[in-house]
Amino acid sequence: MKKMSFAKGLLQALLLLPLAAMASEAEVHLDRAPVNFQDNESLQRGAAVFVNYCLSCHSASAMRYSRMTDIGLTEPQIKDNLLYATDKPGNTMTIAMNKKEAKVWFGAAPPDLSVITRSRGADWVYTYLRSFYRDDSRPTGWNNTVFDKVGMPHVLHELQGQMVPVYKTETDHEGKTHRVIERLELAQPGKMTLAEYDGLVADLVNYMTWMGEPAKSKREHVGIAVLLFLGIFFVVAFYLKKEFWKDVH
Ligand code: HEC
Repeated sequence: MKKMSFAKGLLQALLLLPLAAMASEAEVHLDRAPVNFQDNESLQRGAAVFVNYCLSCHSASAMRYSRMTDIGLTEPQIKDNLLYATDKPGNTMTIAMNKKEAKVWFGAAPPDLSVITRSRGADWVYTYLRSFYRDDSRPTGWNNTVFDKVGMPHVLHELQGQMVPVYKTETDHEGKTHRVIERLELAQPGKMTLAEYDGLVADLVNYMTWMGEPAKSKREHVGIAVLLFLGIFFVVAFYLKKEFWKDVH
């Protein structure tokens, strides 16, 4: 009996899960990431930003530098512009940072970013990287409207500048009032205009999405070959079976 209700509970929880996910998604508005794998120049700019600003903390251990020839870079270009002195183009994007130490510094270890746009979605990452704001109550001095109490500092603030929140008061269904962030405002400009910064993040997210999916077109080819093989194999197997059973009937 007890087992039964546990199973029922589990089933209910599983059925409600998508609803819960929808509810939490509804809270934050996500901007659309302009992803375009045909735009090699954007992918190359994104790769450079990724290597310069993200690889110091995050790894992308499923990504080999040499695969960037797929986005139009030559091996010497990869070596000169994207590799640290010790790395070879055939190496993956690993880092020297110790996970345990990182956890002490930031409260959370920076996760591997190889497939982050697949787990979070490109729109989420695009919005996240443009949603940091000053918050002196946080250890790093930064918070994020998409990821509350985030452990990551705003590593691109020199480019974007400093955003501060503009609040509004909201009344919930119980009649209680809350101060919520209405939007972010630029308090101190960075090296770029906000539009230029959006462009830089667009390139970065384009690259990160490509990095998570670089084998997609290859995979599609393999899929077609497998289907063709199965089709031919089916015909062969069918006649073989007919041949074998001929004498039995
Ligand atoms: C100074 C170290 C540091 C740098 C540099 C850094 N990050 Fe982070 N990042 C973190 C930490 C720490 C977290 C974990 C935050 C948490 O869980 O609270 C994180 C989390 C993230 C997440 C959310 C992962 C998830 O789903 O939980 C994304 C996406 C991300 N970083 C992208 C980037 C990108 C892109 C760059 C380069 C522009 C970058 N980070 C540079 C430290 C860093």
